[in-house]
Amino acid sequence: PWLTAWPAACLAFPPATRLFGGPPRWGFSPSRLLLPCPVLTLPWASPHTELSDVRRFRSHALNYTTLLLEDEKGILYVGARGAIFALNSSNIADGSQREIQWEASPEKQNDCLQKGKNNKTECFNHVRLVQRLNDTHLYACGTYAFHPLCAAIDADRFALPPHLEEGKEKCPYDPARGYTGLIVDGGLYTATRYEFRSLPDIRRNLHQRPLKTEESPVHWLNDAEFVASVLVRESVHSPVGDDDKLYYFFMERAAEESASFDKSHVARVARVARVCKSDLGGKKILQRKWTSFMKARLVCYIPYYEVLKGVHSVDGGSWPSTIFYATFTLSAQWRSMEASAVCQYNISELQRAFEGPYMQYQDNTRKWTLYDGEVPAPRPGSCITNRSREDGYHSSQDLPNGVLDFVKLHPLMFEEVKPARGEPLLVKKNVLYTALAVDRAPALDGQQYDVLFMGTGDGWLHKGVVIGSAVHIVEELQVFGAPQPVESLVISKGQRSVYVGAASGVLQLPLCSCARYGSCYDCILARDPYCAWDGEGCREVAGAADRTQLTQDVQHGREGCWNGSAQGKAPPRPKNRTVLRGDDVLLPCEQRSNLARAAWLVNGTAGLAAGRGHFRVGVDGLLVTDTLPEHSGDYGCYGEENGLRSPLAAYALTVLPEPPKEQPAPRALPPPHTDRLASPDMKFVYIAVIAVLGGLCLVLSAVLLHVSCLQRRKGRYVLGEPRASSVELQTVSANCLGRGRQEEELSREDGCLQIIPGEAPTAASPARETPLAPPPPPPPLPAEFTNGIAALPNVVRKMNGNSYMLLQQEEPSPSPLYNTSFAEELSKLLEKRKHTQLVDKLDESSV
Ligand SMILES: *[C@@H]1O[C@H](CO)[C@@H](O)[C@H](O)[C@H]1NC(C)=O
Ligand SMILES: *[C@@H]1O[C@H](CO)[C@@H](O)[C@H](O)[C@H]1NC(C)=O
Ligand SMILES: *[C@@H]1O[C@H](CO)[C@@H](O)[C@H](O)[C@H]1NC(C)=O
Ligand SMILES: *[C@@H]1O[C@H](CO)[C@@H](O)[C@H](O)[C@H]1NC(C)=O
Ligand SMILES: *[C@@H]1O[C@H](CO)[C@@H](O)[C@H](O)[C@H]1NC(C)=O
Ligand SMILES: *[C@@H]1O[C@H](CO)[C@@H](O)[C@H](O)[C@H]1NC(C)=O
Repeated sequence: PWLTAWPAACLAFPPATRLFGGPPRWGFSPSRLLLPCPVLTLPWASPHTELSDVRRFRSHALNYTTLLLEDEKGILYVGARGAIFALNSSNIADGSQREIQWEASPEKQNDCLQKGKNNKTECFNHVRLVQRLNDTHLYACGTYAFHPLCAAIDADRFALPPHLEEGKEKCPYDPARGYTGLIVDGGLYTATRYEFRSLPDIRRNLHQRPLKTEESPVHWLNDAEFVASVLVRESVHSPVGDDDKLYYFFMERAAEESASFDKSHVARVARVARVCKSDLGGKKILQRKWTSFMKARLVCYIPYYEVLKGVHSVDGGSWPSTIFYATFTLSAQWRSMEASAVCQYNISELQRAFEGPYMQYQDNTRKWTLYDGEVPAPRPGSCITNRSREDGYHSSQDLPNGVLDFVKLHPLMFEEVKPARGEPLLVKKNVLYTALAVDRAPALDGQQYDVLFMGTGDGWLHKGVVIGSAVHIVEELQVFGAPQPVESLVISKGQRSVYVGAASGVLQLPLCSCARYGSCYDCILARDPYCAWDGEGCREVAGAADRTQLTQDVQHGREGCWNGSAQGKAPPRPKNRTVLRGDDVLLPCEQRSNLARAAWLVNGTAGLAAGRGHFRVGVDGLLVTDTLPEHSGDYGCYGEENGLRSPLAAYALTVLPEPPKEQPAPRALPPPHTDRLASPDMKFVYIAVIAVLGGLCLVLSAVLLHVSCLQRRKGRYVLGEPRASSVELQTVSANCLGRGRQEEELSREDGCLQIIPGEAPTAASPARETPLAPPPPPPPLPAEFTNGIAALPNVVRKMNGNSYMLLQQEEPSPSPLYNTSFAEELSKLLEKRKHTQLVDKLDESSV
């Protein structure tokens, strides 16, 4: 009985089978693809934006990339270009910041220019590392105009020491180079490409035994670009007396595949490597080299076509429960398409790979294959454990030569590390996640939920909660007005804040802003584990005195609100709409939540079934075409989400039967229609004029459609002002994306509406007579746009004196290869539309 429309944004990701050709590597249910759709979207300049609780810090410096939070001390250290800041983490904007100015010297800048480096970005001191060294000192490194320097900084005095240290072993030259550094128990563990033209390396410094990776005869790292490193204290309560380990996450050239892989591009894969903290290197073999280096492939969604961007680990208080979250984006090989995936890896899965078989390099075939020979003991690459101590190996220096020789030649594991459940938690199109941070939050149901904060390449912050095997995106905020990649994210449990570092500054946002959810429904449907409804408002759980009064349903986003007006929302007052028989009418109804489905009811019942062909439902309205008098009635629009239904708009529609030509309409009609009383002769002239105008309009529209499509990247939707000279694509949208009546079948439908304000029928030419004039044959479309559009319609439809065309869309082309079809283009636009400001009170008069 219900005419419904699924939210466009949620359908923007077509099934993986179609998009990527062939069956997906792991099975996906289409419902998964519906999920990554945020409930709330708050753009930068929207009047709805309540980002007042955001605190911003910026000074003369740029590139606020390196963040170090010391939660207990209440300080956020920020490494920027030419400066290090110490900010008050409870309010980074309170003006109490301390600063170390650390610019590259003019001589070094000059040298840098001589080397042909960019004087706008590269020839500066980009601070890439800020870590705690000991109780009194911090340790910082900067690129110093391609001449890296490091310094131990007295945290209290917060000033540079008189003597700086050489940094070329610890810090990259290039500010844009992938880099990760940690200080663990006094040792500095860094991974990057150091010095000019040098190979990538994982190194340990500030330690009596500095270590590196091996380069011959086998390169342990191939053109690696590092993303993150994580310390896991595996020695804690270890029954086998294991060692602490450092895990490195990076991208590198897939040496093992280069022979067999498609020649057209260099296969790069994501990797995880690990080393043991107590590694001291070998005595003769692997001297000053890691003896515990092992690496394995990390796969998420589309192997070879994904680029690792961010990694964050959480554990539930003990290391065996460590979970790594990683974000990936589609690599450039996927044309210009943007998409991101988030995968979850259990540490047990990593361990399984590292305990599995090794790969070996065969010189004659130049291929990496499974090593099935004998493996010496103790197991190569493992840390020193109780077992090896019993056998007399107390440090890596005691290891037998056979083991070290084996380590040297077998850095790569055969098994790949697959994500938990074999598939991503989230796949989202048209977004590039560049940074990731995860907080584990207890909810009222007694469970812990992982809340993901994901920064995008264009300055947005997405917040999602992991529920079961998927991520529910709670909200997306545009935190930087000027598009720029989010470089780093840090969460403070103490301050209940998330800090965002980017080129133009640092931001501090609360972990949640529950007050944004104005009703019980909004609060429950958001499924934000930090928020709950207390009967009057949406409150933060952590701050609540009495938790028994709170309602929350993170698991299903359904229970806890009562139907009816108890939530302080009076049902909307019906608006009157009167049209002539045969006209079209649009009843606008905007959904507040991106996840809500629009549902319509006529006369309070299942009335729409009768005239199904006349109704088109979109996420923002109901279009009734070719109205008949029996379409009159009461129309109610509802937002339906998770089984909860709330009334949003109501209309009383009256369709007048076509009045006799000699008489005025039985009821008062809009003024434009008064010249229908003109004499038959005049009418003939009018018709001729209309025919010409109509034809003109059609030609103009097609041209403008073309032009606007060419400029689609810059295109904006303006639902506010009708502009005669522009082509706008708007409203009824879900039809174009497949009105999946059930989540299981994402069938594509044919209808797709474009509203094109034209110049043709205006007050002088009664719109209703336009069809009398046969429009000229449509001009041929440019070849690229014939794709997807079946044929130009030969009827210019009319609504409120405006003309528009209803375009038919073809079935998606059977080609399994991804191509930019019309539907694709449209879904891109629709995706963008949610970042666009819409007029407050949408009405059909604004169409
Ligand atoms: C940070 O600000 C809070 C409140 O504004 C203040 O109580 C605290 O002392 C400040 N901390 C530091 C380290 O300045
Ligand atoms: C950078 O170099 C360009 C061209 O060599 C020069 O025009 C410009 O003034 C330089 N900018 C700075 C800040 O030195
Ligand atoms: C911390 O390290 C610095 C620099 O190496 C050193 O000068 C200082 O004495 C150390 N402090 C402590 C408490 O060990
Ligand atoms: C630093 O900021 C500038 C200006 O926003 C940007 O163009 C540049 O890419 C940034 N550099 C790095 C290394 O992030
Ligand atoms: C709320 O309304 C829905 C739909 O009308 C209905 O299925 C559900 O039972 C109602 N819930 C309560 C608690 O009345
Ligand atoms: C709604 O009810 C009115 C009068 O009760 C009837 O004339 C009209 O046809 C109904 N509308 C629909 C769409 O069923």
